Order: sequence, then structure tokens, then C-alpha cells
Amino acid sequence: MGRFGDARECCGAETVTGPFADTVCFVTGAASGIGRACAAWLIERDAQVALLDRDEAALGSLRDERWWRPDRAMAACVDICDGEALDAAFRAALRQLGGRPGGLINAAGIARNRHFLDTTDELMRTMFEVNVMGTFMASRRFVDAHQSANGGPAAIVNIGSVSGLTGNSGRCAYGASKGAVHQLTRTMATELAPLGIRVNAVAPGPVDTPMVRGVTASPGAREAWIARMPIGRYASPEEIADVIGFLVSPSSGFVCGQVLAADGGFLSAGVIATERAFHKREEYHEGI
Ligand SMILES: NC(=O)c1ccc[n+]([C@@H]2O[C@H](COP(=O)([O-])OP(=O)(O)OC[C@H]3O[C@@H](n4cnc5c(N)ncnc54)[C@H](O)[C@@H]3O)[C@@H](O)[C@H]2O)c1
Repeated sequence: MGRFGDARECCGAETVTGPFADTVCFVTGAASGIGRACAAWLIERDAQVALLDRDEAALGSLRDERWWRPDRAMAACVDICDGEALDAAFRAALRQLGGRPGGLINAAGIARNRHFLDTTDELMRTMFEVNVMGTFMASRRFVDAHQSANGGPAAIVNIGSVSGLTGNSGRCAYGASKGAVHQLTRTMATELAPLGIRVNAVAPGPVDTPMVRGVTASPGAREAWIARMPIGRYASPEEIADVIGFLVSPSSGFVCGQVLAADGGFLSAGVIATERAFHKREEYHEGI
């Protein structure tokens, strides 16, 4: 693993201006879903972006995107659980794009929908390996590179989940791993803020991506989620990228150590709120 893709065709031709001037941003899981939307968000704002993912074919398709900029972006095929491959990817990205480490979005992750009784030791280990260890390992490389480059303001955004904040059925391994990501975020924020690195997490509700289409494939699952969300729909990856983009940019300069749920109201809605949110207003008064 860790072989570099050849998506970058030329870099450094133009001076970068704006909030991401002179920096390189890293996005893991950038070949699909939320990570892909985050990479687009950054590139559209003139950031220089290293897009990391283990899916080589999906990385190759990035060049067909209308937002792809060969002078601003490079793609690297790397497994975030492979330390040596990550080392090489970070080194190569900084060398080729030219800039100090300014942002990291840890969007690579996996999900499985399994009852506790169907959760094997292996599944639990794999979930923690990718979602927790992978987030930690990419963050370590980013922070080490940031320190080697003598710092400057920087931000890391981890991707948690509402399933890491509440006990969603079927999310035994996944929810536990995302709860760990939230706690990792808080500790990282506390210890890295003095180095100039803000760390926050976004905890999305359901987002229309290839991952969630797999996890909620069973009949009625999508409808059940929608019925529990006052907003009454899934998010688009671009809506979540807007939130993540805010947290990775200097616009959120005083936000540090937060786990921000972008969930269509899912966590705020109790039974009455959700059951009644779609009912007629008059029905709220019966029997009270
Ligand atoms: N889609 C949702 O509803 C939802 C909700 C809450 C949280 N999340 C989280 O958001 C993140 C992105 O999810 P998504 O929905 O965009 O999923 P996705 O499957 O569309 O994209 C995930 C990407 O991560 C990559 N990846 C997985 N393991 C990797 C590894 N070991 N090394 C490198 N790349 C790896 C995959 O190849 C894929 O391109 C995940 O952490 C997920 O848990 C998603």
C-alpha cells in the first residue's frame, strides 16, 4: 500500500491567496462521499489539497470532476492504517504541493450495521482499527509535519457520528468507535491548541453517500431514520462539507474541542417531538 497516484500534473504555478494561503490541507477518505465533498469545498476555495484514500479506482475518477484542479491537488492511494505509507504520503504531498500543513480532515471510515449478538471480535477490532487508529495515525503524521514546519495556525476536523453520541441500535461496533473519535477529539484539542492546532469533530446524522446506502439497505431503514429527524430528509455530502469546511478554516478560529452534530435535529428530538413533528398543529392540544 502507499503507492502514490499520478493525479497531480503540475503544482505551484500560481500563488495561493485567501484563508488557505501557503498551506497544504489533507483529506482522508477523499475518493468518496463526505471526504470527496470536503476536497471539492477546499479546492473551490483555492486551497492546495492532498486527497488520500485506499480506493485507487475511485481516486482515478477524481480527475473527471469539474472542481478538480491539477495545479492545486494531488491524489495518493494510501491505507490510513499503514504508518509507513502515511509517512510517505505526507512527505510527498508537502514536497509536491509546497506549503506548511494547514488542515487535516479525517473523513476515511467504515461502517457496519450489526446487533451486539452478531458483532464478532474481528468486526470490533476492524472498526476500531480504521475509525479510531486511522484517525489517530493520520493526525500524528499531520501534527509531526506541522511541528517540523515550525507551526502556524492549523486545524484538524475528525468525523464522528450521531451513533457515537446516542445508542443507535445496530451500531454496536460503529457507535463505540465513533464515541472514541469524539473523545480523541477533545483530548487532541486540549493538548494541541497550545501548538496552534485547533481540533474539532463533526457528528453527522444520515448523509446520502455510498456508505450509508450500504448500512441502511434493509427495507424501511431509510424511512425510519427520516421519521426521527425533524428536518425530514438525509443530508447531502455538500451540506456536511460546509460544516467541516467552516471548522477547518480560520472562520472558526475560536472554536476548539467541539463535537458538532449536523443531524437535521435528530439528537434534539424526543419521542413526542419526532412523532408529532409531522402532525397537524391542532393535535398538540388533545388531552393536555
Ligand atoms: N454517510 C453517513 O451517513 C455518515 C454519518 C455519520 C458519519 N459518517 C462518517 O463520515 C465519514 C465518511 O463517510 P462517507 O459516508 O463519506 O463514506 P464513504 O464510504 O462514501 O467514503 C469513505 C471513504 O473512506 C475510504 N476509506 C475507508 N477505509 C480506509 C482506509 N483504511 N484507508 C484509506 N481510506 C479508507 C473509502 O475508500 C471511501 O472512499 C466516515 O467516517 C463515516 O463514518 C458518515
